[in-house]
Amino acid sequence: MSRSFPDGFRWGTATAAHQVEGGNVHNDWWAWEHTPGSGCVEASGDACDQLHRYPADLELLAALGFDSYRFSVEWSRIEPAEGEFSTVALDHYRRVCASCLEHGLDPVVTFHHFTTPTWATTDGGWSDPAIVDRFGRFCETTVGRLGDLVARACTINEPNIVSFMGYMGGVFPPGARDRDRWLRASDHFVAAHRRAVEVLKAGRGDFPVGLTVSMSDYQAVPADDPAAQQRLERVRGHSEDVFLRACRGDDFVGVQAYSRTRVGPDGMLGNEPGRDVLVMGYEYWPEVLAATIRRAWEVTDHVPVLVTENGIGTDDDEQRIRYVRAALGGVLDCLDEGIEVLGYTYWSALDNFEWAFGYAPRFGLVEVDRATQQRLVKPSGRWLGAVARTNQLPD
Ligand code: BGC
Repeated sequence: MSRSFPDGFRWGTATAAHQVEGGNVHNDWWAWEHTPGSGCVEASGDACDQLHRYPADLELLAALGFDSYRFSVEWSRIEPAEGEFSTVALDHYRRVCASCLEHGLDPVVTFHHFTTPTWATTDGGWSDPAIVDRFGRFCETTVGRLGDLVARACTINEPNIVSFMGYMGGVFPPGARDRDRWLRASDHFVAAHRRAVEVLKAGRGDFPVGLTVSMSDYQAVPADDPAAQQRLERVRGHSEDVFLRACRGDDFVGVQAYSRTRVGPDGMLGNEPGRDVLVMGYEYWPEVLAATIRRAWEVTDHVPVLVTENGIGTDDDEQRIRYVRAALGGVLDCLDEGIEVLGYTYWSALDNFEWAFGYAPRFGLVEVDRATQQRLVKPSGRWLGAVARTNQLPD
């Protein structure tokens, strides 16, 4: 028996500028990829050349059955030097939005997806309060040029990951390991989100605006141990709840979920021995999606949920179908419970640049031959496209 999704449920795939466009030389990630000792295994280079190939990519995704495309506008292309805005770059993204609409895809635009222009990082980046005005001005200018073509907007992608990995974990730019800077960066991300909501709502066009949060299925081990539960609450408080609370009153909250995190009384426990571990180093755990949708709904006081990312990096495409099928079963359970889930966005449309991991992890529904830039649809792409077209999860 197949199970149906509600009418109007949206089906999309996602990418981010730096991961697919190629040649984003004016941002902090490009610099980081070329910094010895940063831990990056390779540079992004030409990526998937989506800068030039977006019309064909959009046509392909629409033909598969999707109705939305989530992508990001690259701040460092639009504003390569402070206060200098590139009309050519703005026009480019206007054409990308227009091309989405021509193909029947809702343009879902993310204004910040991990990368920051290098000029904005020299005096502290996200740990400097100046970033809030800078980001607000960028959003204002950009929405003034494309707002009438935007279907939905995500202000910032996973601020919790950027602040932690960049300012505490030392593995994203600027590579800091400083608790104080991490907490300040988190505060500035929250303020930048609130500012962006204001600016986008006041600007050209009329579309729902939300924030996307990286979420994990946090589990206390042992489950009934109060010390483990307390530890879990502390970890999750800084990493997720601060950002979920910042979404209260928004049009939607973007849930992005991949795996689980086990926490014991003394800290993180890592993967459970004997579990299937993916190329990203975490467990195969499709149950994460239902768990995080429920939690986002609860902590935001019932802001509608849009799944803005869920997916799996694997060379085994059948495993991808199994993962997504299980995750979507969880979405249907959440809908049955009365949670408002607006749509599902698979990460990613294409195999692309997976940040410090380089090109090895393959999240795409479409394979990319990076020597020829040829695209090859995987069986999972056809399978999920059919789910999208029929709005049903087959048994
Ligand atoms: C990010 C993507 C990334 C994906 C898979 C998310 O954290 O938004 O940029 O590629 O996860 O790791």
